[in-house]
Amino acid sequence: MKQLKVMTIFGTRPEAIKMAPLVKALEAEPRIQSTLCVTAQHREMLDMVLELFDITPDYDLNVMAHGQTISDITVKVLKGLEAVLEKEKPDIVLVHGDTSTTFVGALAAFYQKIKVGHVEAGLRSGNIYSPYPEEMNRKLTGTLANLHFAPTQGNFDNLIKDGINPDKIVITGNTVIDALLQVVKEDYVFQGKTLNQIDYAHKKVIVVTCHRRENWGEPMENIFQAIREVAQGNEMVEVVFPVHLNPKIQQLAQEFLGDVSNVHLIEPLDYEPFANLLNRAYLILTDSGGIQEEAPALGKPILVMRTETERPEAVAAGTVKVIGVKKERIIAEVKALLSSEKAYETIANAVNPYGDGKACGRIVEGLLNAYSKASEI
Ligand code: UD1
Ligand code: UDP
Repeated sequence: MKQLKVMTIFGTRPEAIKMAPLVKALEAEPRIQSTLCVTAQHREMLDMVLELFDITPDYDLNVMAHGQTISDITVKVLKGLEAVLEKEKPDIVLVHGDTSTTFVGALAAFYQKIKVGHVEAGLRSGNIYSPYPEEMNRKLTGTLANLHFAPTQGNFDNLIKDGINPDKIVITGNTVIDALLQVVKEDYVFQGKTLNQIDYAHKKVIVVTCHRRENWGEPMENIFQAIREVAQGNEMVEVVFPVHLNPKIQQLAQEFLGDVSNVHLIEPLDYEPFANLLNRAYLILTDSGGIQEEAPALGKPILVMRTETERPEAVAAGTVKVIGVKKERIIAEVKALLSSEKAYETIANAVNPYGDGKACGRIVEGLLNAYSKASEI
């Protein structure tokens, strides 16, 4: 049988984490010829993941530049992929989620009439400006895609509402659980001083991440003020905040939190220490997408600093609470979890709705099935 030529395309940290186990699964499947093109929309944060999972891309567009706009990324990725796709001529490209790399990867493939498989398809917040530009990126990618790998039944339902043929959708679970289960270990030992010195058994460790574009400016200032007030008023708390490498965020975090003794502003962590830090945390305060899927799997309460979420499953399960970006509300919600054991236990014991760690196998099977059923998908 002729091998199916599959090209995976990604460029940022979360895509890399969620696609790494899939790349491994594609490489292990004899009926598939797998190639990988990274756009390197992120550089250091991408390379950390590639190194951890021991993945060497076949193509690297190296597009990251400081201070570049979404348009800059779009133009560079579209042009860079043109030549790669012309040379490789894959049967199908796989893109993930909702970044600029995702949408432009799908568009570049469409321009050459190459099929598109969308991994982590069907997430919707219902507001095209939040998360921005991700909600639009995933809607546009859904329109361009020929096969949709939806993590949950809710994601499947969203695609049906958009008019997608149900035969082209496979419900898989989220690949992030596949990645997470590979790296979290109860006896994990952190490298370096900061994380080793923290007394996880006796202190309440709050892990913070914050990077969303719609939170840039005033919302992020509110968030950082709130964290400052929570930390300064409570010596039982240690805040660990691996700060995104975007210079705007680095600068603001230093300005608002740099002088608070129980707030540790550190560089982004490799995925392995970060996932293990989540596993030791008391609670997580974030505007991240992926962390909303990881925290429930680890039984950790998570407060989401956004006005809405495209991950309602974890909210329904009771493990994620969307708390907005107003200072007073953030302070009140964190304090409630710090002081009420009952509130904490209810959230921490909720179930993980994002899968069993076998999503990648289902995606590979879905791809092979689609191609065995028809010459055209
Ligand atoms: C991007 C995605 C967002 C995703 C996020 C995950 C878009 C429009 N945004 O946002 O959907 O949630 O990644 O983190 O696709 N930088 C570095 N080194 C790195 C990574 C970033 O220095 O390894 C700095 C650079 O100055 C870069 C800036 O961060 O220009 C912003 O990166 P960019 O990819 O444009 O946006 P993110 O905010 O990371
Ligand atoms: N993450 C990491 N190191 C860090 C912070 C986050 O490895 O210092 C991981 C995290 O576990 C999750 C992913 O990065 O898997 C989330 O990425 P991010 O929040 O940047 O993007 P989003 O999910 O919001 O698109």
